[in-house]
Amino acid sequence: MKIFREPSKLQKWARSRSKAGAKIALVPTMGYLHEGHLSLIAEAKKRKADEIIVSVFVNPVQFGPNEDFAKYPRDEKADLAKCRAAGATAVFFPTSENMYLKDHSVYIDEELLSKGLCGARRPGHFRGVCTVVAKLFNLAHPDFAVFGMKDYQQAQVIKRMVRDLNFDLDIVVAPIVREKSGLAMSSRNTYLSDEERVRALALSRLLKSVEAGKSVKTEKARITKALEKEGLKVDYVEFVDGETLEDVKKTAKGVCVLLAVYNGKTRLIDNRVI
Ligand code: PAF
Repeated sequence: MKIFREPSKLQKWARSRSKAGAKIALVPTMGYLHEGHLSLIAEAKKRKADEIIVSVFVNPVQFGPNEDFAKYPRDEKADLAKCRAAGATAVFFPTSENMYLKDHSVYIDEELLSKGLCGARRPGHFRGVCTVVAKLFNLAHPDFAVFGMKDYQQAQVIKRMVRDLNFDLDIVVAPIVREKSGLAMSSRNTYLSDEERVRALALSRLLKSVEAGKSVKTEKARITKALEKEGLKVDYVEFVDGETLEDVKKTAKGVCVLLAVYNGKTRLIDNRVI
């Protein structure tokens, strides 16, 4: 397995592999890898990629000033071992300094799908995500890139960026991986105390309880009340069209239910497409 730290070195290698006809998959991550990330690598393998490049980069540009950039969990040694065992052929570990030069001044703004939900609560977040993902696309020359459905809005925003800026690759969105308890896998779960872990189960439980054909107003009130009863602070409970991310009034097939809560100090998100 190759290890790259310099963007230019990854780019040179990926370009030559691409020219030689290799099918390249990119799995962008922020590291502290768990089963959810490994399922993205497995998806790349299933699609017969010759090269599977996993990028591990806690991207400072997508964190707000009061967010958890500094304390975001990092474990390079463990990530390397997991990538190797999962069948990645290359890992990219850049530093902030070599991804963003001191006078970096170009960013990508998606102006529609990124405005609500997490975008409304985390100003600048999707600008940071789009910018780093576009850079990774340019460095890794992927034929396809694999993202997780757990970040539902992110996946939609990236698909839109690829469509609107004519990036020449496919976006694959892999299903959420859950613990047996139902808790969606997330690197941020590591922040949770035992008690908070139990409280967090309300998210998947309530998502599962949503049925088609109900009034969104009633469902929102029911879910909000139940989350609050668990001791979770609700950031949002939203029901949107799975493609356009526009609000809907009735639950139906294809509607996405998205939850964001504060569990103690940890912000958790989860979703389900009905
Ligand atoms: O989903 C993530 O881990 C990040 O937002 C991504 C796509 C790797 C960009 O930093």
